[in-house]
Amino acid sequence: MRILAIGDIVGRSGREYVERNLNKIRRRFSIDFVVANAENAAETNGINPEIAGRLIDRGVDVITMGNHTFSCKNGEIAVEENKRLVRPLNFPPEMEGRGYVEIDVGYATVAVINLVGRVNMAPADCPFHAVNAALKKIDSDIIIVDMHAEATSERLAMGHFLDGRAQIVFGTHTHVQTADEQILPKGTGFISDLGMTGIKNSIIGTKIDIVLDYFMKSGKRVKFMKETEGEVRLSGCVFDIDNRTKKVTAVHRVNIEGEQ
Ligand SMILES: [Fe+2]
Ligand SMILES: [Fe+2]
Repeated sequence: MRILAIGDIVGRSGREYVERNLNKIRRRFSIDFVVANAENAAETNGINPEIAGRLIDRGVDVITMGNHTFSCKNGEIAVEENKRLVRPLNFPPEMEGRGYVEIDVGYATVAVINLVGRVNMAPADCPFHAVNAALKKIDSDIIIVDMHAEATSERLAMGHFLDGRAQIVFGTHTHVQTADEQILPKGTGFISDLGMTGIKNSIIGTKIDIVLDYFMKSGKRVKFMKETEGEVRLSGCVFDIDNRTKKVTAVHRVNIEGEQ
């Protein structure tokens, strides 16, 4: 089984690229299952029911989120209604949505769990205790975890914490792909950050001039606007899993540009 994990889909440019090209990418690379982080898919960040529905229709099997889960109008409705959309499991339990989903693909069951980190991020419950509790309830053949976090150390810590208990642990949120893809000692396929899916010539998806203003003109109020002009790059990682043993056999970073 070949699983493609797609890094944070940013704005209209990123999501329309996915909508146009994902089915061709699935065929070209013989992908069986796609998980995509879409916490920045709406113009305001976050997601709404229409965007979530389109991404699922166009070939995403499960959408994961992060700190921006509720940044878009109707985000609460999206995470309540779309059963293939998961938000961080370690958000307070009274918040809308679910932290994991289990999908039957015929020859296997696949669980996707979303977590959010706590280093330099908004308060949340402990992701380590939260995922431990969830794993007691989950009995899928294949377990995939999106650890949405700021610190590479916290993401790598989650990789080792789940080594041998989840097939795949990847990080999202910082939008810059890391070169540490690997199979951890007990067999978990891991990468600290998948990268992003959006305009390549931007600063993590935002217009360059606006971000320069933010950094160079202390105290100036800036409105972060997503870049919409230019070429899109889809970044992510492909994980191969042996159908019989359910073990990860290969991890490859991918960066895809241009119409497929
Ligand atoms: Fe993001
Ligand atoms: Fe984020």
